[in-house]
Amino acid sequence: MKNIIKTTTLALVALLSMNTTVFADEVKQVDIANGAQVWADTCMRCHNVRPPSDLTVRAWSFSMNHMRVRAGLTGQETRDILAFIRASKTEEDRK
Ligand code: HEC
Repeated sequence: MKNIIKTTTLALVALLSMNTTVFADEVKQVDIANGAQVWADTCMRCHNVRPPSDLTVRAWSFSMNHMRVRAGLTGQETRDILAFIRASKTEEDRK
């Protein structure tokens, strides 16, 4: 009986620590200032600037996946630009 409790406790501890690792991996830091910089440097190379109010937050994440490929951005740059676009939306436009 003691052994079963010990094994179960060990398994639980292992599972919990695995979960923490997965969770820590998924929480990616974003850098809004870097997003603004990359946005200003990159997005006007091919077309006029698209203001954050042009698209909904949801449509922006689709479009950014599209533009990520076109502009050759890294995942981090794409997340930073998205964070910058979200932060630039006005209160009425936050959809
Ligand atoms: C290499 C050229 C290029 C770069 C760099 C670029 N775009 Fe585009 N973008 C295009 C083209 C071309 C289209 C027209 C749609 C198409 O044919 O793919 C477009 C379309 C769009 C659209 C319309 C919706 C859509 O997804 O088609 C948005 C919004 C947009 N770009 C935003 C951006 C932003 C923000 C950046 C900077 C991260 C950016 N673009 C960088 C070429 C570029």
